[in-house]
This record gives sequence, structure tokens and C-alpha cells, in this order.
Amino acid sequence: MGEIIFRRMTLEDVGKVAETDKICFGADGWDEDFFIDELSDKNSEYIVGEIDGKIVACNGIKFHRNAAYNMTIAVLPEFQGRGIGEKILSVSIKRAKNHGAKYMTLEVRVDNVPALQLYKKFGFQIIGRIKKYYMGGEDAFTMYANFEDLKCKLLSDK
Ligand SMILES: CC(C)(COP(=O)(O)OP(=O)(O)OC[C@H]1O[C@@H](n2cnc3c(N)ncnc32)[C@H](O)[C@@H]1OP(=O)(O)O)[C@@H](O)C(=O)NCCC(=O)NCCS
Repeated sequence: MGEIIFRRMTLEDVGKVAETDKICFGADGWDEDFFIDELSDKNSEYIVGEIDGKIVACNGIKFHRNAAYNMTIAVLPEFQGRGIGEKILSVSIKRAKNHGAKYMTLEVRVDNVPALQLYKKFGFQIIGRIKKYYMGGEDAFTMYANFEDLKCKLLSDK
């Protein structure tokens, strides 16, 4: 397996990223139009992880004043468990900090153990629960991390 490269998502990536999102989130995955809208939003920033020219991960963030909101993070199933989720999140957090954000919030399914563990590893804390947040009726936890309290090393993209 080649080295992973992280870079800004472009319009050319939309098809592949939407495919990745559907594989990872099923009915809750976003379609191409959603990503096209996000790319034209100056308050959004999407990063992809690419290995040998193949998009294997995506992480999108939206900014509002000094807050960053983690819109989506997904790693293709066959590439999970190799540290890619951790790397792409740390790249995005570094970019968010450079953008002036002081903290990040996100929603995660209450039974999504891999994601919950990932966020806890970074120092995110559960600050709320939203009933029936997802299309299938599952609840979400809201999580929060102040960038000053992060427990991880942040990476830069290329
Ligand atoms: C959540 C997700 C992005 C993690 O990506 P990944 O590349 O597999 O994660 P990493 O290999 O970087 O693991 C980083 C940490 O996450 C946690 N983690 C990852 N997979 C895990 C698993 N199967 N069980 C428990 N913890 C897990 C661990 O804390 C791990 O650190 P460790 O290796 O020191 O134990 C990935 O599982 C995914 O794309 N899932 C489907 C989409 C999704 O649910 N996204 C989150 C939406 S809120």
C-alpha cells in the first residue's frame, strides 16, 4: 500500500466521495449535490485521503465564528483500522485551528463504537443526546472538544 496523501477535496472528487459516504453511512450518506453545495460554501472545508490515486477517506468541517463543526468523517471499510481516520481528523483539526476555530462539535450515533472511541481518543466529551437524530430513528450524542485540551498530535496536509 502506498503512502496516504491528504488534500483539499475538489469538484472532480464529488462522485467518489459521495460513493464513499454511501458505503459508510448507507441511507444517511449524502448525495453528490450535497457535496457540490458544500464545496461552494466558503465556511466549509473538505479533506480527502488518497492512496495511489484512490480516495479512501473524507472529512468535512464547517466553520461558524470560532467554532468548527465536524460534518462527516468516513474511511472506506477495507482501509479502516489502519490509523487513517485518526490522521484525517487531525489534519482537519489543524486546518480548523489555522482558520481561527477554538473548538469542535459533532454528532455521532450512540452505538457507533469506532467513532466514539476515535473522538474520545482526541479528547472529545459527550455533552448531550439528541433523540431520533438519524433517519432510522437512532439517537445521537453531541460531542465537544476545546482545541486547547486535545490529547493528540496534529498533522498537516500536503
Ligand atoms: C470512525 C472511522 C472514521 C474510524 O476510522 P479508522 O481509520 O478505522 O480509525 P483509526 O484506524 O484511525 O483508529 C483510530 C482510533 O479510533 C478508534 N477505533 C477505530 N476503529 C475502532 C473499532 N473498530 N473499535 C473500537 N475503536 C475503534 C480507536 O480509538 C483507534 O485508536 P487505537 O488504534 O489506538 O485503538 C471509521 O470507522 C468509519 O469510517 N466508520 C464509518 C463512518 C462513520 O461512522 N463515521 C463517523 C461518523 S460520526
